[in-house]
Amino acid sequence: MDNGTILVVGGAGYIGSHTVRALADAGRRVLVLDNLSEGHREAVTRCPLITADIHDCAALNKVFTEHTISAVMHFSAFAYVGESVANPQKYYHNNVSSTLNLLSAMLSYGVKYFIFSSSCATYGNPQYTPIDETHPQSPINPYGATKFMVERIVADYHNAYGLNYMCLRYFNAAGAHPDGATGESHRVETHLIPLILKTFTGENQQIQIFGNDYDTPDGTCVRDYIHVCDLADAHIAALSALLAGAESCCVNLGTGKGVSVKKMISACEEVVGKKAPVVAAPRRAGDPSILTASNALAFQTLGWKPRYTDIREIIATAWNWEQHRRY
Ligand code: UFG
Repeated sequence: MDNGTILVVGGAGYIGSHTVRALADAGRRVLVLDNLSEGHREAVTRCPLITADIHDCAALNKVFTEHTISAVMHFSAFAYVGESVANPQKYYHNNVSSTLNLLSAMLSYGVKYFIFSSSCATYGNPQYTPIDETHPQSPINPYGATKFMVERIVADYHNAYGLNYMCLRYFNAAGAHPDGATGESHRVETHLIPLILKTFTGENQQIQIFGNDYDTPDGTCVRDYIHVCDLADAHIAALSALLAGAESCCVNLGTGKGVSVKKMISACEEVVGKKAPVVAAPRRAGDPSILTASNALAFQTLGWKPRYTDIREIIATAWNWEQHRRY
């Protein structure tokens, strides 16, 4: 095994911190670089944390000079769809321009392996589901556009500079580590599962259902919820594959199963054993009715399959975290 350091940018965030734990479990040497604007210092316990921004070229140079970096995993991005519509500058600046900086440092220091957190938001409104990787990419909001742009940039860098990459297109990340030490904690919570669970802890008065007239079996939006530890495992597999010479590619990460908003509320009620106060609300702008993944390519190229296939198991880990959260 290559024993250089894996630089995890955004490793103090939700998906990054779970991946750092999985990397440490797999015996990898890890270094986290995070500006802590969204991430949490407490989430990084298994490796050193450098608090810096990837816009800071001097900080980047220092990291690449002082460490032998084998590969970079890049999780750091703003990811609020609504905010990206209202303030696209913030998104293009942070998600695209800072990534160019990071890639420049990688090129300067000869680091040739890159794993990028992409999103199902790059597909836009699906023409068919489950969505496979050949589905046209036509993002409908600036957040999705930033992820799509970076995918294009790394593909061009691959052709021109020999950068080897995997772009992992996450569907809806969910759940927490089963040991309860790390979980989801956002500056502003907008995600469905934590908002439902917060009605049980009293932090949230009620859960709003954004639209009940969609063209879906129960009228509410359908999403593919993938456990954060399954996402972390996929990164470990992607890293091993890349370092072993796998072709650069983009891969969906989802379970392939769709869960509607109403079904999610019922499943949370079942796991917790309480009723959630529910209210109907208008559709949220920019929400596609159904997003489910074909995960066949992930299995084919990475040998990856999700371990959490029952949504109640995913909710149970999120509920454990919600009750005992440390940050
Ligand atoms: N929802 C509600 N009520 C709420 C919150 C959400 O009904 O209070 C609904 C949403 O309308 C959506 C579903 O629950 O239909 C899931 O919403 P989330 O906000 O949990 O997740 P999204 O599907 O909007 O977002 C995810 C990722 C984003 C990514 C996006 C791509 O979290 O980073 O998918 O579409 F950009």
